[in-house]
Amino acid sequence: MTSHKPVKKAVFPVAGLGTRFLPATKAIPKEMMAVVDRPLIQYAVDEAREAGIEQMIFVTGRGKTAIVEHFDMAYELEDTMKERGKDLSVLDSSRATPGDIITVRQQVPMGLGHAIWCARAIVGDEPFAIFLPDELMIPNKGGGTGCMKQMVEAYNEVGGNLISVLEVPQEEVSSYGVIAPGKQVSDTLTEVTGLVEKPPVAEAPSNKIVSGRYILQPEVMRVLETQGKGAGGEIQLTDAMAKMIGTQPFHAATFAGRRFDCGSKLGFVEATLALALEREDMGAEVRAMAERLLG
Ligand code: G1P
Repeated sequence: MTSHKPVKKAVFPVAGLGTRFLPATKAIPKEMMAVVDRPLIQYAVDEAREAGIEQMIFVTGRGKTAIVEHFDMAYELEDTMKERGKDLSVLDSSRATPGDIITVRQQVPMGLGHAIWCARAIVGDEPFAIFLPDELMIPNKGGGTGCMKQMVEAYNEVGGNLISVLEVPQEEVSSYGVIAPGKQVSDTLTEVTGLVEKPPVAEAPSNKIVSGRYILQPEVMRVLETQGKGAGGEIQLTDAMAKMIGTQPFHAATFAGRRFDCGSKLGFVEATLALALEREDMGAEVRAMAERLLG
């Protein structure tokens, strides 16, 4: 196995306004919306930790402080819970190791590419991961590992740049970044020969879409520096990545697991139902409840 510089940092672009969930997201960040009892950002951070990532870089904006609070120690809460003899382990995953959470601000929403570029000084000269917390990636029911852990394992083999992809019905491709697949490297890994952001359905090079998890080399920051506006008038990460193809290895990995699009209401409800149904502490009751409701 070739040795590639390990992925220890992850960027979480969380400055978005969450307009699709208004009014729910008027006063709370959309990343704090809970699927059963964990906010979306917690799922993403847990997935990062499982993959061996140590430093979490949040690209935030105004009104997003609840995300950082979530990973702080809530002293009064813990003290009161202790006094009342309550189990504090429920808070374990929301406690960050001191120094592990870093925030930078994106002052104006100018697109995903611009958000990532805001983290350039902290990323420095290392490969880094990106998580879009809207995309909830969950291992298969029988177990298995998270999406980023699978990607890190593949990255250790091929190095370079790696994005997670999944197939969607052709008519949906225009909402996503789409890859032109090249040589199939293994069952789950293919080379990427092209990338296009939100193409018209007829012009899409495939139905394999970029699904919110990336491992990129730091050179992408240099490309983003001068990246002009693309689809939707935004500075697109996809456009900057496209320019890296041919200069460095570029692969796409298919996640062996499940993906819920929690950026849409339907996807969010589906995720809530799916995860509630498989919870040991409530699954049976949720099933009975759903059957009752379906009458
Ligand atoms: C972003 C990316 C797109 C990707 C999508 C995944 O788009 O630009 O390439 O396919 O996330 O959810 P957005 O959903 O921010 O428009």
